[in-house]
Amino acid sequence: MIEKLDPRAAGARRLKDKVCIVTGAGQGIGRAIARRLGQEGGKIVVADRIDEGARRTLKDLQDLGVGAVKVIADLSTLSGAQDMMAEAVKAYGRIDVLVNNVGGTIWMKPFHLYTEEETQQELERSLLPTLWGCNAVLPIMIKQESGCIINIGSQSVRGLYRAPYAASKGGILAIGKVLAMEYGRYGIRVNTVSPGGTDIPDRLTPRLQIRPGEMAEDLEKEEGDRYREEMSADIRAQQSLGRRGLPEEHAAAVAFLASDDASFITGDVINCSGGQS
Ligand SMILES: NC(=O)c1ccc[n+]([C@@H]2O[C@H](COP(=O)([O-])OP(=O)(O)OC[C@H]3O[C@@H](n4cnc5c(N)ncnc54)[C@H](O)[C@@H]3O)[C@@H](O)[C@H]2O)c1
Repeated sequence: MIEKLDPRAAGARRLKDKVCIVTGAGQGIGRAIARRLGQEGGKIVVADRIDEGARRTLKDLQDLGVGAVKVIADLSTLSGAQDMMAEAVKAYGRIDVLVNNVGGTIWMKPFHLYTEEETQQELERSLLPTLWGCNAVLPIMIKQESGCIINIGSQSVRGLYRAPYAASKGGILAIGKVLAMEYGRYGIRVNTVSPGGTDIPDRLTPRLQIRPGEMAEDLEKEEGDRYREEMSADIRAQQSLGRRGLPEEHAAAVAFLASDDASFITGDVINCSGGQS
C-alpha cells in the first residue's frame, strides 16, 4: 500500500520548490505529510515541540534528498507560531504551504468526567495551534498574494468520549470555511483534511504527554479501557472499508490540496476516513 502511494513511482513533482511548513511533523500523520510533500519536490520546514521526533523526520527527508530544516516550537502559543514563521522565512524567504497538523485527543471519557483544566488542555492541543498558525502565517501570505493552508480535522466531530477534542475539530472546520471566504481575494486557499481512525505505528510521544516530560493522569485502567474499546468499536462500525487508515493516505490528500491540481478548491473538506464520514 505504502509503495503504491509513493509519488516518486509516478514521477509526481507537483510541489517543486514550494516552501511547506508541516506542524507536528515529528511522528504519525505529520511525519508522513512531511515526507510526501518533500517527495513531491517541496522544501520542508519540520516543526514540532519535541526534538527527538523532529530530528528523525529531518533525517528521513535528508535521506530522500529533500531540502529541509527543523524548527522546535510550542505551537499552543501565538508567539510560538510567529517564531516558527520567522524561522521558515529566514531559511527559505517565503511560505507557500502551511499544514496545521498538531492535535490529537489526550483523554477519552464521557464529558462530565472532564475537569475544567483538562477541557482547556484539549483545546490547547487541538484547536489553538491551528488558530495561531493561521493567524501568524496570513500576513506573510497576504504580502506574497499567494499561499495555501491545510488544516487537519477529524471524524471525531461525531465520535464518542472526546467532546472537547470534537469541539476543537469542529472549530477547525469553521476556521477553514471562514478564512477561505476572507482571504481568497489574496490568492490564499484554505482547506481541511479530516482523517478517520488511523494507525500510528511510529508514535514516540504519547498522547497523554501534555507538555514535554509531563504526563497527564488517566482513569483507572479498567474504566479507561472500557471507554476506549467502546469508542474504537464505534469507529470500526463506521468505516465502510473495514480497516483503519494509514498516515500516508492522509498525506496523499494533503499533497493534492497543496498542489496546483487543487487551484480552484478552497473552503472545502476532504474526509479521508474509509467511509466514516
Ligand atoms: N491518529 C488518528 O487516528 C487521527 C484521526 C483523526 C484525526 N487525527 C488528527 O491528525 C493529526 C495528527 O495526528 P497523529 O495521530 O499523527 O498525532 P500524534 O499525537 O501522534 O503526533 C502529534 C505531534 O504533534 C506534536 N505536538 C503536540 N503538541 C504540540 C505543540 N503544542 N507544539 C508543537 N508540536 C506539538 C507532538 O510532539 C507530535 O510529534 C492531529 O491533528 C489529529 O487530531 C488523527
